[in-house]
Amino acid sequence: MKTVVISGGNDGIGRGLALARLARGDQVVVLGRGADKGRRFLAEAEARGARDRAHFVAADLSLVSENRRVVEELTGSFPALDALVLCARFFRSARFETAEGYESTFALEYLSRYVLSHGLTGALEKSESPVVVNVSGPGIPKPAIRWDDPHFRTGYSGIAAQRHAGTANDLLGVAYAARHGEGRTRYVLVNPGSTATSFAGEYDPVTKSQVEAIRRMGKPVEQAVAPIAEVIDAPPAEPLSAFAEGRRIGVDDPRLFDREAAARLAEFTERLLAR
Ligand SMILES: NC(=O)c1ccc[n+]([C@@H]2O[C@H](COP(=O)([O-])OP(=O)(O)OC[C@H]3O[C@@H](n4cnc5c(N)ncnc54)[C@H](OP(=O)(O)O)[C@@H]3O)[C@@H](O)[C@H]2O)c1
Repeated sequence: MKTVVISGGNDGIGRGLALARLARGDQVVVLGRGADKGRRFLAEAEARGARDRAHFVAADLSLVSENRRVVEELTGSFPALDALVLCARFFRSARFETAEGYESTFALEYLSRYVLSHGLTGALEKSESPVVVNVSGPGIPKPAIRWDDPHFRTGYSGIAAQRHAGTANDLLGVAYAARHGEGRTRYVLVNPGSTATSFAGEYDPVTKSQVEAIRRMGKPVEQAVAPIAEVIDAPPAEPLSAFAEGRRIGVDDPRLFDREAAARLAEFTERLLAR
């Protein structure tokens, strides 16, 4: 039995994975904001006879303080973790700042993943073949990091913020592998491709209709879940690997996985988190 932690596991790909892992006999911890959705997950687990293996931790992961609390709680509650799967996301057509003063997309889709990945490494290292699966968008050309304005005080658009967070996650993978490559934990970036999920967010009318079209054409969640499940069952040997729509892609192209930028972003993030 593996212990699998899934951020954003209340909807979409995260939810599909949570139910699939329960069916396989694993223990699953879902991290999510909505307490009602958490109760729904626990009720679904109960109906499947897996209530004792299902856990829900309510947390607003756009807040660094909440991510730190979750790290402490999970480290105290579970002797070891086998997999951390990062799926939480929230699209905002209008810029929003968290109570901690960070632009919310950068905070939820990058800072949270940074804190959970590094913060849970101690618990992951205690299991036999641990893995972090960062479900994002590797393999797609993206913009450079906005070193002077990562919080989009100027030039915000929901799509630009999402793409920027995507760059930051590719670099998080590179920097994580550079720091923890000697350990057991493997870092895997997964781009599931267009998938019919909840597309959690607050959309303006134009973006809403575009997202509805993508949702109609997207693949079923089960198809996106299968390659993630494979990686949990048999993590790749390399410290960092990436997959797009189930196919392995290279991680050596410096335009996509820039080692210098990755080290710079890790330092930048450490300074930000130390404030
Ligand atoms: N779907 C696609 O076509 C697609 C394509 C490429 C990549 N991806 C990536 O795949 C991953 C999963 O996407 P998805 O489409 O399956 O997601 P989704 O259906 O939109 O679900 C996102 C989840 O994130 C949670 N969440 C949002 N804000 C949160 C917060 N502040 N704190 C904690 N949880 C929060 C939501 O729960 P609450 O409502 O409770 O907050 C929801 O359960 C994402 O990383 C996404 O970028 C998806």
